[in-house]
Amino acid sequence: MAQPVPEFHALSDRASALPGSPIRALLSGHRSGPVLDLGGGWPDPALFPSDELAAVAEEVVVRGADHSLQYAPTEGLEPLRVFVAERLRRRGCTVSSDQVLLSHGSQQALYTAAALLTSRTQPVALEQPGYPGAEQAFALAEAPVVALPVTTDGWELDALRGRRFGALYVIPNHQNPTGRTASQEQCCELVRFAEQCGALVIEDDAYGDLAFDAEPARPLCAGLPTRGILLGTFSKTLCPGLRIGWMVAPRELVEPLVRLLQASSLQAGTLAQHLAYGLLQRLDWEAHLGRLRQAYARRARALEQACRTIGYDARAPGGGFFLWLDARGDATALVRRAAALGVLGVPERAFRHPGCPGPDRHLRLAFSRFDDSDQARERLRRGLCSR
Ligand SMILES: Cc1ncc(COP(=O)(O)O)c(C=O)c1O
Repeated sequence: MAQPVPEFHALSDRASALPGSPIRALLSGHRSGPVLDLGGGWPDPALFPSDELAAVAEEVVVRGADHSLQYAPTEGLEPLRVFVAERLRRRGCTVSSDQVLLSHGSQQALYTAAALLTSRTQPVALEQPGYPGAEQAFALAEAPVVALPVTTDGWELDALRGRRFGALYVIPNHQNPTGRTASQEQCCELVRFAEQCGALVIEDDAYGDLAFDAEPARPLCAGLPTRGILLGTFSKTLCPGLRIGWMVAPRELVEPLVRLLQASSLQAGTLAQHLAYGLLQRLDWEAHLGRLRQAYARRARALEQACRTIGYDARAPGGGFFLWLDARGDATALVRRAAALGVLGVPERAFRHPGCPGPDRHLRLAFSRFDDSDQARERLRRGLCSR
């Protein structure tokens, strides 16, 4: 006999209002077959420390199973927290390991910080164009969004003056999607603004270690020891499959953040934390970062050159994964035509909050996996010159 069809409850307001990732939606369906995928901000698997990871895995699983396969403290593996704090001290932050909380990728840290600081009555100022994952995290926290326009050297703060916010979310270094790095003056201006309007700053430093020709910049949060939460990740420097990120918070926020982490995941994966720590012990970290910076810088220049050759005024950024290309017209239409010809990129519109309209004339092209072959350059020409 046929089973009765179950009746579903209505979804919560929160779940109904949650947008999907516009990038995953745009790119799905196009990824099969031979494509030049400049869409997703994915690291190059050729740069994953796979051999080292295989050796570490053997050690961690076979000899350390009692710990590595067990539950662990919510805050994260202590030596890994020490490592993160030590790296940030070198970049000018006054931080100790008890302020570092490990998370399931920095996306979980981002949602956790959003849930801590924002709600229906505590808006967030979100960079526009900005990282769509932040859009989703703050939507889940039900925070009203106010646009924080991104400029070539920082932010346009004037429209925000006189308002109050639960949080300001920013990516000062190698921003996703524009690749721009904020100047020191602009970072100081943002710090002053946060102090004036009583907001906390959530600084996303996902690409901070990937500066091509300079030392990684001093995080903006170094100037905000009691008002900043800094987010970081090993996704871009080790591999995203480990899902290990972190947040660094003022001491008085650590306990409420721990409670939020417990509610959503109890802790980041113990095994992944042990693998990450084992890798860090085995790798010469500076040499490893040096190799990544060199490889990504080379790819950024190659994509810049390939775009210039076909008539675009492309400018490689100073770090990170993304080239922000002026499409000189309707970016969404160009992306659609290019996708049909096997070239994937993401239009500016995908990085804008629906309630904060703006231009749609740029393309985000991820150079992180651009191989600079004749075939790739030819495909790019066909995709981007299709009118
Ligand atoms: C700016 C930014 N923040 C956070 C993330 C999330 O990274 P993960 O959760 O892998 O640490 C990404 C991933 O692309 C990103 O670009």
